[in-house]
Amino acid sequence: MKLVLIVAVFVFVHSAFTRKFPANFSRCRLSDPDLDNCLKTAIEKALHLIGSKGISSLNLPPIDPLKVSKLEIAQGTSAVKLVQKYTDLSITGVSSSKVENAHFDSTKKIFTFKTLTPNYNQEMDYDVNGKILVVPVYGSDNVTSINTIAFEEETRNNKSYYKIKSYKLSLEPSLCHVRYDGLFEGNEKLGATLLKTINDNWRDMFDDIKDGLEAAYAEVFKSVASGFFNTVPIQDIFLS
Ligand SMILES: *[C@@H]1O[C@H](CO)[C@@H](O)[C@H](O)[C@H]1NC(C)=O
Ligand SMILES: *[C@@H]1O[C@H](CO)[C@@H](O)[C@H](O)[C@H]1NC(C)=O
Ligand SMILES: *[C@@H]1O[C@H](CO)[C@@H](O)[C@H](O)[C@H]1NC(C)=O
Repeated sequence: MKLVLIVAVFVFVHSAFTRKFPANFSRCRLSDPDLDNCLKTAIEKALHLIGSKGISSLNLPPIDPLKVSKLEIAQGTSAVKLVQKYTDLSITGVSSSKVENAHFDSTKKIFTFKTLTPNYNQEMDYDVNGKILVVPVYGSDNVTSINTIAFEEETRNNKSYYKIKSYKLSLEPSLCHVRYDGLFEGNEKLGATLLKTINDNWRDMFDDIKDGLEAAYAEVFKSVASGFFNTVPIQDIFLS
């Protein structure tokens, strides 16, 4: 009788927790000899699952589109020293990323993974000295991103959680382009000339703001990932 009760309680507690994870959310066993491969598949699936709805039980917001209210990109190194302030960004494409590899060093608590995003688009408003401009849609093709997340452990209510100590990002697109959907109305020629200039010189322009861009995006991704790690204790991130 006692045993039945214990088992019942265990099953209840266990299922109460696993209910937090959507049915096809994959988790890995830390002891898995092929942990990295498991993580690679799990992350790719998770990105698809989070998609346009997010997973509220895991404190994950929708990522496609990923809405960012404010993003500031530090000035580049070229002659054009300009801090770019964007507002109301809408970023699409992240949930269709392929994860190319993943590695978790559980001793150093460092997680790295590399993704390839086939089509990445970003729409936003642009704040120039307090004046809000609507800018064209920025698109990037085949963006390789290397994410390096360093964790530290913190204990709350006797449970250990990962806290993100640093999030580093390296971005490498194979092509960037800008298009405009009915912008520059009445001055199509100016618009077309401007866009051609940007599109012809995308590599220089990208390289100029690369550091600032990576730092700004790392903050965005860190904030998304922190929701998950603040909510799910380490013992539940992995299968036991
Ligand atoms: C999750 O599972 C449901 C039902 O089994 C399925 O319809 C859906 O395609 C799955 N989603 C992903 C991203 O695998
Ligand atoms: C992106 O990758 C796909 C698949 O490998 C390829 O067909 C396409 O040409 C690439 N696009 C660019 C702009 O490099
Ligand atoms: C936390 O653990 C300590 C020592 O194991 C115990 O005395 C305490 O009651 C626990 N607190 C909670 C909130 O479970």
